[in-house]
Amino acid sequence: MKNFLKNVLPLPAKRSVAYHNEIVSRLDLLGQQYSEIESNLGQRYNEIESSLGQRYNEVMSRLDLLSQQYREMMLRLALTRAPGRGPITPDAGDGWDEYYDNAEGAETLQVEHYIIPLLSKHTIPFNRVLDFPSGRGRIAEAFYKVYAENIEYFVCCDANSNAIDNCRERFAGNDVFDYMVNKTHEYQCIPFEFSNESFTFVYSFDSMVHFSYKWIDFYMSEFYRILDNGGYLFIHHSNLGSPDVVTDNRKSEIYYENPGGRSPNSAEDIRFISEKHGFSVVEQNIFDWAVPNSDCVTLLKK
Ligand SMILES: C[S@@+](CC[C@H](N)C(=O)[O-])C[C@H]1O[C@@H](n2cnc3c(N)ncnc32)[C@H](O)[C@@H]1O
Repeated sequence: MKNFLKNVLPLPAKRSVAYHNEIVSRLDLLGQQYSEIESNLGQRYNEIESSLGQRYNEVMSRLDLLSQQYREMMLRLALTRAPGRGPITPDAGDGWDEYYDNAEGAETLQVEHYIIPLLSKHTIPFNRVLDFPSGRGRIAEAFYKVYAENIEYFVCCDANSNAIDNCRERFAGNDVFDYMVNKTHEYQCIPFEFSNESFTFVYSFDSMVHFSYKWIDFYMSEFYRILDNGGYLFIHHSNLGSPDVVTDNRKSEIYYENPGGRSPNSAEDIRFISEKHGFSVVEQNIFDWAVPNSDCVTLLKK
């Protein structure tokens, strides 16, 4: 500060020492005030930033809830269009367009909230990944953003060929991605066209929650076949069938008669099926979705 005054503000010789000292002390005071204001502003900025962050998280979780409620209403609507006995497992082909449109945008939050916390506790080989059923690839996109540097090969697989066309557009130009439309039949389970041990990690999100026990049993045997030894499977499934889960009405075998279209499977069922096919259960986490404790994510190792 004194150097600054010497160079920039040369003082008249007559007034020299007292005048110079006065200005120096005023400037010092100004400097102190400036630092105080700067630090107050910094503090205020941090407060505003953290309260905005909290507000953002609240709004996002509210949006997540609204989108879940919306999906539930869509399923109820489907029920009014299809009175009488319906399928016990979802239509694999068309009819998902409204879901795809509505769910788009929720993926980052869902991956961060439901998938990563469980995966990040374990050392998982993400070299060759399968997303089944991928729909239009929204979860695949959010998942890939997190693990891109580990992934050499990533397959999006769904029975809906339009959804797979959407995946092709979505990941156009990225050679890591490959695509498969798997065949399905209402009364028959059809194996994947993947060779044995094609993948090191398979995951399924927001789809098998609707699958019947028979379909889960079949796909679990297929996942075991197409995974490498030491590979992992992450599966999001229903826990509605657990005796601890309370619903307004009787739990139905027709998945879309139940809250959130959940099939009447339980975490216990999935553990039983997985172990029967040779998997070890690494971890199961039950959480609220359609009703308290309606859902579960299970991590399995081959
Ligand atoms: C609710 S969407 C979820 C899609 C995606 N996981 C997501 O979160 O955006 C359910 C998907 O399951 C697919 N699907 C249902 N049963 C299937 C089966 N047996 N084989 C392949 N795809 C199936 C449907 O075509 C649809 O794309």
